[in-house]
Amino acid sequence: MAVPFDQLDGQIWMNGEFIPWKDAKIHVLTHGLHYASAVFEGERAYGGRVFKLTEHNQRLHDSAEFMGFKVPYSVAELDAATIELLKRQGFSDAYVRPIAWRGSEMMGVSAQANRINVAIAIWQWGSYFDPAEKLKGIKLDLAEYRRPDPMTAPSKAKAAGLYMICTISKHAAEAKGFADAMMLDYRGRVAEATGANVFFVKDGVLHTPDPDCFLDGITRRTVIELAKRRGIEVVERAIMPEELSGFSECFLTGSAAEVTPVSEIGGKWTFTPGKISETLMNDYMKEVYPAAAVAAE
Ligand SMILES: Cc1ncc(COP(=O)(O)O)c(C=O)c1O
Repeated sequence: MAVPFDQLDGQIWMNGEFIPWKDAKIHVLTHGLHYASAVFEGERAYGGRVFKLTEHNQRLHDSAEFMGFKVPYSVAELDAATIELLKRQGFSDAYVRPIAWRGSEMMGVSAQANRINVAIAIWQWGSYFDPAEKLKGIKLDLAEYRRPDPMTAPSKAKAAGLYMICTISKHAAEAKGFADAMMLDYRGRVAEATGANVFFVKDGVLHTPDPDCFLDGITRRTVIELAKRRGIEVVERAIMPEELSGFSECFLTGSAAEVTPVSEIGGKWTFTPGKISETLMNDYMKEVYPAAAVAAE
């Protein structure tokens, strides 16, 4: 049995201080726990450097703003704390999880006086999906829940509450033997997986849903840039599930998922991971590793 996450060794940065990992605790009457008043990030360190660190910390700030609160540390302060923590943890390739949440000063829907807490944890981490499996492509279920209307929830925020339906959908998919689930949006359009954006290939052109009700991922934007650098045309548009039979390749993108080819969705649509998926998968890995680490190989 793996060591539980609250029992790992090392340090966590919490509210401005580096404290022992096991001491980074909160009270049971924490607003963030009861009312999901929390925003977070998911970042990856490669070769000792966090990829697009400042963009992630800026998004943490933006997410908090969508939720009506302000992260009490600047983006630069969060960047510096992350860099120092990565050094203290001694990891080269790792996962970085900053989180900001409303504390326990008031309990109820209103939390005007609650302190905004911030923590950063870093742990050693390999590939999200088994790398050997990557090029074979993973199989996705079609989720029952849909990404909500932006009039219903702050869909641009990386907010804890928005992950409720992701965990339900991922658990349901895993129970049926799938690796993850594809979610449609409130209009029935193809949206994203439970923790990653999605791309399709047709006749050498990349197609990806417009991110108008879900996260416009940092990896998504990176992959669009990498594709353009290769001269691959990218079309951002509404994609209906009926169209999926017309695509030859499919892959997911995310800080955790990186570029992960997909072989099947919902037991209904099949794809063959091909040249474009493989090229972008490799280009992405080259992009995330610091130049010095690649040169030393
Ligand atoms: C629901 C969801 N969509 C998309 C993404 C991809 O975002 P990024 O590439 O910024 O990690 C993530 C990962 O954070 C996610 O959780």
